[in-house]
Amino acid sequence: MHVTFRQLRVLEAVARQGSFTRASEELHLSQPAVSMQMKQLENAVGLPLFEQMGKQIHLTDAGNVMAGYARAISQQLTEATQAINDLKGVEGGTLRISVVTTVNYFASRLLAAFARAHPGVHIVLDVTNREAVIRQLQDNSTDIVLMGQPPRGLDVIAEPFMDNPLVVIAHPGHALAGAKNVPLERLGEETFLLREQGSGTRMAMQRFFEDNGITPSSSAEMRSNEAIKQSVEAGLGLAVVSIHTARLELDAGRLVTLDVEQFPIRRQWFVVHRTGKRLSLAAQAFWDVVLTEAGNSQAASR
Ligand code: PGA
Repeated sequence: MHVTFRQLRVLEAVARQGSFTRASEELHLSQPAVSMQMKQLENAVGLPLFEQMGKQIHLTDAGNVMAGYARAISQQLTEATQAINDLKGVEGGTLRISVVTTVNYFASRLLAAFARAHPGVHIVLDVTNREAVIRQLQDNSTDIVLMGQPPRGLDVIAEPFMDNPLVVIAHPGHALAGAKNVPLERLGEETFLLREQGSGTRMAMQRFFEDNGITPSSSAEMRSNEAIKQSVEAGLGLAVVSIHTARLELDAGRLVTLDVEQFPIRRQWFVVHRTGKRLSLAAQAFWDVVLTEAGNSQAASR
């Protein structure tokens, strides 16, 4: 098979993005160039790699086999570059960090601490939800992830680094504001605003309510913590959020937390990487910064 590394790179991007257009944007190539590379790869393989259903591109069995190898080969090459840089003692390269939305509220502090000590490292930060960071761990397209509960069914190394209490937030004028030890069942009468499917906060909240046999109604679903907080402030309903996302509004008195039995839901944040991943020196240094810095601020907030 006469296959080039470039063709494999393009295939890897098309497979991940599920679209020629998005892959061409990511790789800064024209769409005809992407189609041409894929045509040549199909010729070299001797089987079709894609099938088109409407606008959506799907991989054939042969496409899936080749995409798996393409992923493994590009990861090996990235790791080889890192290994050589580490041998050269080069303080540089790119560090890919992905964090769930709630971590974003203090991720910049961790990044600043890291960047001060390692100015030569280029940091690429992705802020997204739980489902997306799990996908990135699966594809090995990120170095380090900061997230809630580590994923089951995926081999990862994970260390907890900070408490992440989930609280019920409300408008200060809400009937339950200021009430002490509200029975959990009382929440069954309330309307909640939900994060989108794939959010770890939503998953934790739904599991908690299910375990306790409570089914509050929900009025709306939103992709961001900011939208959730603003809607709660506007009196649209209650929400369960990480306390770290709402510090400013709580301090300013624009939101309050409700004192409900069994709340806060106790969670933790974890720093995570795939088992067997070869961490660059920069990635190892960032890992250490997370554990030290977060430990310091946890101790300070006690
Ligand atoms: P989320 O992350 O942004 O997916 O809700 C929070 C978490 O997993 O703790």
